[in-house]
Amino acid sequence: MRKSETFLFGVTTGIAVVATVQYLVQLASYAFPQQKTTSSGIIKPVPVRFKQSEEPVADTAANSEVGSSVTLSRPPSPKSSLPSVLETLDNQLVVSSSKLQKIVLHMVSEFKKGLMNDNENIAMLPSFVVNRPNGTEVGDYLALDLGGSNFRVCRVTLEGFGNIRMTHAKYTVSNELKTGSGEKLFDFFAECIGSFCKNQGLDTGKSIPMGFTFSFPVEQTAINKGTLMTWSKGFICDGVVGQDVVDLLQRSLKKKGLNIEIKALVNDTVGTLMAHAYSDPQTYISVILGTGTNAAYVEKVDNIRKWGTGNGEVIINTEWGNYNEATILPLTPWDLKLDRRSSNPKHQIYEKMISGMYLGEIVRLILVELVKAGELFNGMGSQTLSTPYRFDTAYMSRIERDHSLSLADTKQVLEDVMGVPKSSVEDRRIVRHVCELVGTRAARLAAAGIAALVTKINRLDACTVAIDGSLYEHYPHFGNRMRDALRELLGITAENILLEQARDGSGQGAALIAALA
Ligand code: GLC
Repeated sequence: MRKSETFLFGVTTGIAVVATVQYLVQLASYAFPQQKTTSSGIIKPVPVRFKQSEEPVADTAANSEVGSSVTLSRPPSPKSSLPSVLETLDNQLVVSSSKLQKIVLHMVSEFKKGLMNDNENIAMLPSFVVNRPNGTEVGDYLALDLGGSNFRVCRVTLEGFGNIRMTHAKYTVSNELKTGSGEKLFDFFAECIGSFCKNQGLDTGKSIPMGFTFSFPVEQTAINKGTLMTWSKGFICDGVVGQDVVDLLQRSLKKKGLNIEIKALVNDTVGTLMAHAYSDPQTYISVILGTGTNAAYVEKVDNIRKWGTGNGEVIINTEWGNYNEATILPLTPWDLKLDRRSSNPKHQIYEKMISGMYLGEIVRLILVELVKAGELFNGMGSQTLSTPYRFDTAYMSRIERDHSLSLADTKQVLEDVMGVPKSSVEDRRIVRHVCELVGTRAARLAAAGIAALVTKINRLDACTVAIDGSLYEHYPHFGNRMRDALRELLGITAENILLEQARDGSGQGAALIAALA
């Protein structure tokens, strides 16, 4: 090895060793989230104490990692050879087939645990939806669909023969609403519903039936009753956890003088499953890959031991996003950092490795570290790059879609959008590779969850999986990467598992469930 090569080898190996030691220390301090049941049966997350003397920091722009224009403190080192940097990242972020197999096996056992007891990490919540549609249902319904940052009011017409017609209006839930009082949030929904009905010329004089899709962990006690267990996806409105969300919305509707009756409370996964089953009866599983991630599936009531015994089938909302097994999930130092700084530390770990709300942030944390180490942009970052959640997952999509030789669109994202002073082609290749690694890992982990569910219900011979969400719809190669992983996991039988895009299922499904209720 020449002298310069020895130096470069030393620099990259040094970074790898330091990162590995930091990671092991962090992982060792990673205890599982505990949950406890109150006398009312509501599951409350118990605050988790950190072994390290570190407090979680909320995700606000105020936590920006630097001041104004940035020169990171460490002087830029001579650029190391590209392959070594990438190799270090690959070691941390590539999830091998055998690792995936372990995750599948462990998830299957966690699903079973969730069906036995109330307070497990994967909650396995019965939805009270016991009938699947047969395509003949008809009628006119309203549906409300709160998924994450967007909220939709829909008018759904079930036409029979598996046909659904829908018109909708979309509203954005501002950060202020997400973090304010629950009452304000529900009043806002009622206001939007009121103006939608008016625009549609709907007569609110006579009672209109409505399905309410509320995509958060809810412990249901009836088809139109359920208490919020905990917020996720950046929502922290007070006065809602432990309350019946149907009751809250019904009260706000009444205040606005709207004669609307909430017939069904539905998780987006359950709505998606129902909507897809309306036209494809082989649909036994649904998955959301959007701001958050979750899955629902059809389970035999007899297998739900926490319910005692019973007959027939019910759709289970798994809440798989809260799969948290730190010894099985391939957590990196960046995942741990993101979690510590999130609004719900030690919860929704699987979701934080997979879904659209977080992928860009993982990439950003890696890029910031590479800049600090002088491996990117000559050590020159930017205020925007140093600000939490400013690197959108949508930028990853753009970068992964950039096949130009000079990576021109990547340059635009980095320099024009993120404010990085200058990027070389080599820099852009590294950034693209980081996006590929984080995006591929997410797709493979999601596929492991699907393989676990298909195994759990023993549907390896034929099963349609309805998938909705912006990540699956818009992120390049996401579906193909999932299919590759399924083939590695299930071999030739993966051909029997159909992954199908299910657009707008959550709103349509809520209407269907209201119809069946
Ligand atoms: C979060 C919610 C879950 C929802 C998912 C997808 O994981 O907890 O209820 O289904 O996001 O929107």
